[in-house]
Amino acid sequence: MSKPTYYITTPIYYPSNKLHIGHSYTTVAGDAMARYKRLRGYDVMFLTGTDEHGQKIERRAEEEKVTPQQFVDNIVDGIKELWKTMDISYDKFIRTTDQQHKDTVQKIFKKLYDQGDIYKSEYSGLYCTPCESFYTEVQLKDGKCPDCDRDVEEVKEESYFFKLSKYQDKLIQHIESHPEFIQPQSRQNEMLNNFLRPGLEDLCVSRTSFKWGIPVTFDEGHVVYVWLDALSNYISALGFMADDEDYKKYWPADVHLVGKEIVRFHTIIWPAILMALGEPLPKQVFGHGWLVIDGGKMSKSKGNVVDPMVLVDRYGSDAIRYFLLREVAFGQDGNFTNEALINRINSDLANDLGNLVSRTTAMTMKYFDGGVLPAEQQGNEFDDSIKQLIAENVTKMEENIEQLFFNNALENIWTIIRRLNKYIDETMPWVLAKDESNKPKLAGVLYTLLESIRIVSIMIEPFMPRTCDKIWQQIGISRGKFTAWDTIHDFGLLPLDVKASKGENIFPRIDKDKELAQLETPTLTPPAPEVPAEEIVEHITIDDFFKVQLKIGEVIECEKVPKADKLLVSKIKIGNETRTIVSGIAQHYEPADFVGKKVVVVTNLKPVKLRGIMSEGMILCASDDDGNLVAVGPLGEMVSGAIVK
Ligand code: MSP
Repeated sequence: MSKPTYYITTPIYYPSNKLHIGHSYTTVAGDAMARYKRLRGYDVMFLTGTDEHGQKIERRAEEEKVTPQQFVDNIVDGIKELWKTMDISYDKFIRTTDQQHKDTVQKIFKKLYDQGDIYKSEYSGLYCTPCESFYTEVQLKDGKCPDCDRDVEEVKEESYFFKLSKYQDKLIQHIESHPEFIQPQSRQNEMLNNFLRPGLEDLCVSRTSFKWGIPVTFDEGHVVYVWLDALSNYISALGFMADDEDYKKYWPADVHLVGKEIVRFHTIIWPAILMALGEPLPKQVFGHGWLVIDGGKMSKSKGNVVDPMVLVDRYGSDAIRYFLLREVAFGQDGNFTNEALINRINSDLANDLGNLVSRTTAMTMKYFDGGVLPAEQQGNEFDDSIKQLIAENVTKMEENIEQLFFNNALENIWTIIRRLNKYIDETMPWVLAKDESNKPKLAGVLYTLLESIRIVSIMIEPFMPRTCDKIWQQIGISRGKFTAWDTIHDFGLLPLDVKASKGENIFPRIDKDKELAQLETPTLTPPAPEVPAEEIVEHITIDDFFKVQLKIGEVIECEKVPKADKLLVSKIKIGNETRTIVSGIAQHYEPADFVGKKVVVVTNLKPVKLRGIMSEGMILCASDDDGNLVAVGPLGEMVSGAIVK
């Protein structure tokens, strides 16, 4: 018989910057669930990925003087590295720049257009010309552009619209008849009362004001606007409208995990698109809360984002995974502090779990030569209650994790762990060990502990995939029939002849004060300190310097790049050759004034395409903190092509 399937997704993240701990939060939750379902025998598809199109990425690439594709490739490499470090076991990583995704989105757009669900009209909004961006009234800051503080103007842009309003009643009906569809319940009420019942407007699904997007096949100049592109990832990744074997196997998704701010897109726009396509809806959208710092959202501009890599480097990925899912109820917001993190590591991991394992294995080795328990064992008055407590908490844990109540599931496991530590104090093995006639009793106590630890170690596997292995090693088993999920329901399976061994301390205690002082609360990655550049300069050798080829060039032609207010394109004569170079200097030089200037050019820089123009080098410029900029040139007469060194 084929295995039942389970399809779980995270949002696809914007690769406009490095990801922070908030993004790790959703992904770790998805990973814990995916691992749990695999352990329960499901054929799991766990999807994550990146949402790579749009104006913001286009701009970031321009700032960095690379193509948008180069820009996202670089960030995506870092994201994949992060997931590897955090032991994220995704089955597929979708990028919206994947050819298959682009093809699917184009097919979806065309199908919806052909059947009349997408139509052409006019989008009107408040436009900031220098920033090339539309804003809504609410997004403005004192009536001006929120980015550059300049005046905005009302502009109309030809756009395609999706008939979202047509699906309003059907959506309400679906939500009301499927109470499990939007979780937690409070978010369902919010969607119905704040958005659906007041009425939906049609949704703009194409733009002409930027280029970095999936082109609309039948109308040049239009690119698919972000949400239609992004949401389709959940089915394009499965080969929808292409080689759709996975689609047939895994769709509809069992759950889309999303942060609360994008529940609306996933429970209104996404189901409406699927309804229009005549496809089944996901079974559930779970909108979790945010990790906040001092009550506010983390943001790059506030300089309070927490870098998960820093934390994982210091404390290991299992500790961070545990903290993320244990500290806050999954549906609610929770404050992130370094102190809370260290407290959890010290109390739950080092004290409760770490001590339980190390005390048990150390005593087994000390009292039974070689760490193997004898066959002759005797129980005690606490054993039955331990077994009962384990059975109860195993059941509750399964119920909780099935509902994505990760913190409760972990609490169930820790109820067992804490009870076991108490059991050690109650049975006092060190007293039993003093009298040879108590050996069977002592062996019985240690067996109860080792067997309970085996059960606990299996239960923590979805959350802490490294720690379970370490524990198995110490209690003398390896992955196999004694670590299968179902065995947690059967107390007493641990064979008698296992050999305990004392390994490394699985969670060493942290010196809190020392650590906090080093971490500089509340953030682990404080904004870059304002030290003079020379203090943080890393020295390079003369050989490093000579890797950069610098030459004198003469500007022979120069003009503005159409539709880009910061860019000039110049033809530069360098000795016998002429190069085309795009530079972000339009706000500092009039093209006519730039012609005839001698400048210093980096000539061995890899060419990049900027706004469709291949740029073959870089003009050196100096700029100050006030935004003044001048191109750098020779102080005296010098021929073009001369080497600068
Ligand atoms: N690209 C869209 C999603 C498209 S899905 C079809 C997007 N990307 S994002 O990079 O901004 O990521 C948002 C998601 O990251 C949130 O929905 C949430 O899952 C996670 N988080 C980002 N910051 C977070 C916190 N501070 N706390 C918890 N989760 C957070 O929106």
